[in-house]
Amino acid sequence: MSFESDAREAGFSRRVTLAITGASGVQYGLRLLQCLVQLEVQVLLMVSRAAQVVIATETDLKLPGAPEAMERFLSEHLDARSGQIKVYGREQWMAPVASGSGAPGAMVVCPCSTGTLSAIACGASNNLIERAADVALKERRQLLLVPREAPYSEIHLEHMLKLTRMGAVVVPASPGFYQRPQSVEAMVDFIVARLLSQLGFEQTLLPRWGEALL
Ligand SMILES: Cc1cc2nc3c(=O)[nH]c(=O)nc-3n(C[C@H](O)[C@H](O)[C@H](O)COP(=O)(O)O)c2cc1C
Repeated sequence: MSFESDAREAGFSRRVTLAITGASGVQYGLRLLQCLVQLEVQVLLMVSRAAQVVIATETDLKLPGAPEAMERFLSEHLDARSGQIKVYGREQWMAPVASGSGAPGAMVVCPCSTGTLSAIACGASNNLIERAADVALKERRQLLLVPREAPYSEIHLEHMLKLTRMGAVVVPASPGFYQRPQSVEAMVDFIVARLLSQLGFEQTLLPRWGEALL
C-alpha cells in the first residue's frame, strides 16, 4: 500500500498513527512512542489539549504546545531521526491521517479518554484525532484503543462494545501482576508490549506467557 511504501522509501520500517488523549496514563503513550522510534517506525503523532494537561500533571516533561515545537522537542528528547516524528495539530485537516489515501495502516489511541472514545464511537470527527480514527474505521484499518477510567459507565462499555464490533481492538490500561513488576515502568511496559504485539512487532519488553514466568 502506498502509505507503507512511502515510509520505506523514506528509510523507515513502517508508518503508524499515534494519538495521545487526556486520560490518566500518558506514560503508556509516551513509552509506546519511544519504542516505535527505536523500531525505526515513522510516527504521525497527535496530542490533545487535555493530554498536554495530563502530561504536565503526571510527568516532568516540559512539552511545548505548538505542533512544530512539540515535534522538535520530542525528536530531540527521543533521539529520533529527522522526519521520524511528525506532529499534527487538532485542526490540521490537510495532514495525511485525515484521509484514507494518506493515513497509515494502523492507528493507536493511547491513552484513550472516554471523551475521545465517545467521539470515535459516534463518528464525530470534530478534531484531527477523531477524524483519523474515523478514517481508520471507514477504511477497515487497524485501530487500537487504550481506555482508562474506573469504574466504567454503561455509556463507556457500550462505546467499547460498538467499536469492538466495528473491528477496533480495545486494550484497556490494566497491567497484569503475574510477572511481579518492580516498578511503574515495568507496569507501563506490560501494556506497551501488548500494543507492539498487536501492531505485529516482535516485542522484547516482556517474556511471552509460558516463557520464563517467575
Ligand atoms: C489529570 C487529569 C486526569 C484525567 N484522567 C482521565 C481518565 O483517566 N480517563 C478519562 O477518560 N478522562 C480523564 N480526564 C478527563 C479528560 O482529560 C477530559 O474528559 C478531556 O475532555 C478529554 O479530552 P480529549 O479526549 O480531547 O483528550 C483527566 C483529566 C485530567 C486533567
